[in-house]
Amino acid sequence: MKKQLILAFGQADRYAEQALLQKRVAQTLAARLPSLARPAILELGCGTGFLTRHLLQRWPEAPLLCSDLAYPMLQRCRASLGAHPNLRYAVLDGEQPAVAAGFDLIAASMVMQWFTRPLASLAGLFALLQPGGVLAFATLGPETFQEWRQACTALALPNALADRPTAADWQQAWPATGLAQTWEESITLPHPSGLAFLQGLRAIGAHLPIPAYRPLSAGQLRRLLRHLEQQAHGGTVEMTYHVIYGLFRKNGVAALGKNGYPAG
Ligand SMILES: C[S@@+](CC[C@H](N)C(=O)[O-])C[C@H]1O[C@@H](n2cnc3c(N)ncnc32)[C@H](O)[C@@H]1O
Repeated sequence: MKKQLILAFGQADRYAEQALLQKRVAQTLAARLPSLARPAILELGCGTGFLTRHLLQRWPEAPLLCSDLAYPMLQRCRASLGAHPNLRYAVLDGEQPAVAAGFDLIAASMVMQWFTRPLASLAGLFALLQPGGVLAFATLGPETFQEWRQACTALALPNALADRPTAADWQQAWPATGLAQTWEESITLPHPSGLAFLQGLRAIGAHLPIPAYRPLSAGQLRRLLRHLEQQAHGGTVEMTYHVIYGLFRKNGVAALGKNGYPAG
């Protein structure tokens, strides 16, 4: 699965121009990042750098380790952001990042839905944070592509969608009780056709099905796309992205500002 992910995202050379929803989500997450004084930052699954750009603007002097599973994505990120004295890049599996602990902020926008065991990854990320440090993330929730799921059910076809954790599941999996805050957003995007929706996913590398999935035959796929188009509103096929955002804090002393008082 990880090899397929590297291949899919590695080939997504139109990601930066096509992934408009991901750009918007990164902006929303960035606007809610906590107040921290010169935090040591680890970014997971940076892609072409939508969130990285905000992190650099917000904390130009903070050390930032920007990482992704797919090396071509890191290259695109570097090409887009240019050199910054405090910015380093690394190929890392965000699910088990092979780095020393000590981060004040771990940020991950639209990547954890690709983890094999997303909830289990939280314990490892928790361990990498300093006391008072924060994990800030955006990920896809279980209602994502509900229109696709409903069409598959209506036609008795299997769907290729993962069973994603709910906001409550994420909160419960965080090792520090009471320090996990989530909020959710539904974004419905119009597509000229069902096929255009699938092609859009492929263009950004986000088209991989769940591992055990047996692809539909050409005839089944045609029936499914026709069904979606029959349900179309105003001539467009709508697909909903259910986005879950999280700000999860590690208990302990809050990060200290330069004057020794808690930042923020
Ligand atoms: C949908 S893109 C999001 C990229 C970027 N954060 C953004 O918001 O545009 C998902 C990114 O996660 C990376 N990715 C997938 N699985 C990963 C993993 N296990 N660890 C780290 N990165 C991963 C992909 O290579 C891709 O760059």
